[in-house]
Amino acid sequence: MKKDIRSFVQQDRRDFKNKDISKESMAENPFDQFEEWFDEALQAEIQEPYAFTLATASAKGVPNARVVYMRDLSKEGFAFFTNYNSDKGTDLSENPNCTANFFWMELDRQVKFSGTAEKLTPEASDAYFNSRPRGSQIGAWSSDQSSVLKDRQELLSKLEKLKGEFEGKEVPRPQHWGGYIIRPTRIEFWQGRENRLHDRILYSLSEAGEWQKDRLSP
Ligand SMILES: Cc1cc2nc3c(=O)[nH]c(=O)nc-3n(C[C@H](O)[C@H](O)[C@H](O)COP(=O)(O)O)c2cc1C
Repeated sequence: MKKDIRSFVQQDRRDFKNKDISKESMAENPFDQFEEWFDEALQAEIQEPYAFTLATASAKGVPNARVVYMRDLSKEGFAFFTNYNSDKGTDLSENPNCTANFFWMELDRQVKFSGTAEKLTPEASDAYFNSRPRGSQIGAWSSDQSSVLKDRQELLSKLEKLKGEFEGKEVPRPQHWGGYIIRPTRIEFWQGRENRLHDRILYSLSEAGEWQKDRLSP
């Protein structure tokens, strides 16, 4: 039988019983801390822990959000790949500020980071593009991401045409496809706790380039 959605969403709740966190227990550098949590997400066998929600905003301040995959990580920031002409690409060309969020439900954790996105070098985008399966490489050529299609057939016909054109050849990276690195200035680690008294530790980057840790009210 179908559930009543409204009463279900009003009544369904669970308590968060995972570990606590404190300023003292968290690493000095947020990227070290992120790696530790990411490793725990892997050990907990969370599916696709590298998926995060990316929020952008146009020059006029109109927000937009979608899920993307983190495909690289360093102490500089988080990298993902996309179509530069997509809605997110257009937003980021007008306004590089963005916010992103990983949610790892099984661990009652979220990691939120905010900063600015910058295109990766063409060499870095080439290196990742060349590592992708051929189907995804041709897919990158066939989709004008975020533009309106007449129907699915339009996309499939384009794909078939491109398959023919690339037959027996290496597929080069399209100029309109590549990576971004998000360089965060704030990274927040959120751990769900009992009675909604959650733990939140925020790292903020100072002008001098040093990370400061603060506990935030839940
Ligand atoms: C689990 C998951 C992973 C995704 N990963 C990516 C990705 O890495 N890059 C990408 O461009 N789109 C990815 N997408 C699709 C985006 O969510 C989105 O539909 C697309 O990028 C167009 O977004 P835009 O119109 O806001 O630019 C993913 C979607 C899901 C659900």
